[in-house]
Amino acid sequence: MVFPEYRPRRLRKNAAFRSLIRETRLDAGQFIYPLIVMPGKGKRAEIASMPGVFRLSVDQLAKEAKDCLALGVNHLLLFGLPEKKDAMGSGAHAKDGIVQRAIRELKNAVPEMMIVTDVCLCEYTDHGHCGCIIEGQVDNDASLEILAKTALSHAEAGADMVAPADMMDGRVGEIRAALDENNFDQVPIMSYAVKYASAFYGPFRDAVDSAPQFGDRTSYQMDPANAREALREATLDVDEGADILMVKPAMAYLDIVKMLKDEFDLPIAAYHVSGEYAMIKAAAARGWIDEERVMAESLLAIKRAGADIIITYYAKDMARKLRG
Ligand code: PBG
Ligand code: ZN
Repeated sequence: MVFPEYRPRRLRKNAAFRSLIRETRLDAGQFIYPLIVMPGKGKRAEIASMPGVFRLSVDQLAKEAKDCLALGVNHLLLFGLPEKKDAMGSGAHAKDGIVQRAIRELKNAVPEMMIVTDVCLCEYTDHGHCGCIIEGQVDNDASLEILAKTALSHAEAGADMVAPADMMDGRVGEIRAALDENNFDQVPIMSYAVKYASAFYGPFRDAVDSAPQFGDRTSYQMDPANAREALREATLDVDEGADILMVKPAMAYLDIVKMLKDEFDLPIAAYHVSGEYAMIKAAAARGWIDEERVMAESLLAIKRAGADIIITYYAKDMARKLRG
């Protein structure tokens, strides 16, 4: 099959042929749209480094959820910005905590919307780490109990799925056990199984004021240099009962997305994070790139690499584009 017998251009001749042989397609049903919930009433505060992304107060959520549903986006990932932070991150599992109130409001007003919650302590701790601190160190096993309590409090408020983001060892098993013991055996866990210690989270940390006050996250998040370690991380989470495996960030880690897709039979999610979004926005604002096309190409690449699910701040814009 060498030239001139095989001519790839034959099937690129027109839009119909190109559509016929297209290997990858995006669908709004596979998107998860992150939402950051903030205290107060009537608040809709744009995040400076993430144009088009807003922190919303609880009363603004129902309208936002309805807008998403109208576009075919039916999964939200909730983050909370609490009124007060403390050393143990107690706001993360408070019955009337910001995320717990947000879940109840959404499930009450827009029950069809699927609510996924980020389970982590960094938005709730005054030191900004994802676990609690004992003798100056982020203590793994002491954090597990708090994380499990947090996931359980989300399920009790009505969350449809929980997504542990902390990268403590053993948290998926601990959360699974806590959910099962409390009759939430039907609530799935989407594990941030392979989460790198990445500079691409910068804009998000500004948005929720969660940058660590001392040190960094390299003692718990993964080293960007490592690929095989991703298999060990993912294997642990599978054995502990994860239902979905996530890779984060997405575009700089497409090799990892592909590797997980090839090695595991669970659904794979990829998180197109704040810094990835901000870079596109910034270049587009200068007229250096075509935002719509770069957005579509980026999300397509993530899907092509193997992501079944894409978590993205572009969910609504991409869904709108897919509708034509
Ligand atoms: C919480 C968490 C973070 C993100 C998702 N969950 C921040 C972090 O790990 O510092 C990043 C989201 C984004 O950058 O869009 N641990
Ligand atoms: Zn965290």
